[in-house]
This record gives sequence, structure tokens and C-alpha cells, in this order.
Amino acid sequence: MKSIKTLMFIMFFLTALVSVKAENQQPVNPLKKGKELAKHCAWCHDVKRNLIAPSFMVILDKYKNVPDKELKEIFFNSIKNGSKGKWNKWIEENIQTKLGKPENMYMPAQKPYFNDEEIKLIVDWLLSLRKKENVSKN
Ligand code: HEC
Repeated sequence: MKSIKTLMFIMFFLTALVSVKAENQQPVNPLKKGKELAKHCAWCHDVKRNLIAPSFMVILDKYKNVPDKELKEIFFNSIKNGSKGKWNKWIEENIQTKLGKPENMYMPAQKPYFNDEEIKLIVDWLLSLRKKENVSKN
């Protein structure tokens, strides 16, 4: 009898453990996923510092009057297909370490590295930085 009781106790304990574990497994936060993917952009972009390309905050500031929906499309296209010429003047005036002539600086298309879904996650994360409280979390 005693061993059955012990066994039941162990079974109960194990079930409890498993259910606690299941509760802790929350779905992956899409913004976190976007942020993780955007680490690949760090060769050229930082959130706040201007490396060889404008920081994400500088980019968001330029488009601050553009509504979310429209800006998502602009960023999606720039990231997927690359961007050239839009920032030449800004690069000329603001970037100290120039890798080449400002007029030759461009952003290579990112489509070999990310699929559309991943680019959307990156764009959503980028737009989340429009809210100041999200920037401090980065
Ligand atoms: C090799 C360097 C490089 C990499 C890697 C890179 N970028 Fe860029 N990015 C640039 C440069 C340079 C510009 C300015 C392009 C221009 O003048 O049009 C730019 C511009 C942008 C813009 C503004 C586009 C616009 O329409 O005004 C966004 C948004 C952006 N990058 C996001 C990203 C994201 C997100 C990634 C990673 C998935 C990334 N970039 C990777 C160099 C890079």
C-alpha cells in the first residue's frame, strides 16, 4: 500500500511539473523576432548611432509625418529591394567614416537573406520604435 501511495504522489508531482512548464511556454513575441532578425542590419545600422548608414532613429525621424501603413510599404520595399540615392546628401553631411563616395553608397537588397514574412517582422519592429518607450527597451 505504502509504495502505491508513494507512486501516486510521484505521478501527481510529475503532472504538476509538466503543466507548469506548459504554462511557461508562451508564443514567441513577433516584435522580439523582428528585433532578432534586425541584428543582421547591424553592419550598417544601429538604433541610435550613425555607423556607415543613418541610424534607425534618424530614418524614423525623416518619415515622422508618414502614417504607419504607408511607411510600412516604403520600408518593406527599401529593405527587400535595397535603396539608393535617398540618403546621399545626409550621408555626405553626417557620416565621418566613409567607405566610398557618398553618391556611391547604397543599401543592398536584403531579399537574398530574408523572405517576405521575415521582412514584415523587421518592419513591424522598426515601426515599434516610433513609440519612445519602446526605444529605451532596445
Ligand atoms: C551594407 C550596409 C547596409 C545593410 C547591411 C543594411 N542597410 Fe539599410 N541602408 C544602408 C544605406 C547606405 C542606406 C541609405 C540608402 C539610400 O541612400 O537610399 C540605408 C537605408 C535604409 C532605410 C531607409 C530607406 C528609405 O526608404 O529611406 C531603411 C528603413 C533601412 N536601411 C533598413 C535596413 C534594415 C532593416 C536592414 C537589415 C535587414 C538594413 N537596412 C541593412 C545600408 C545598409
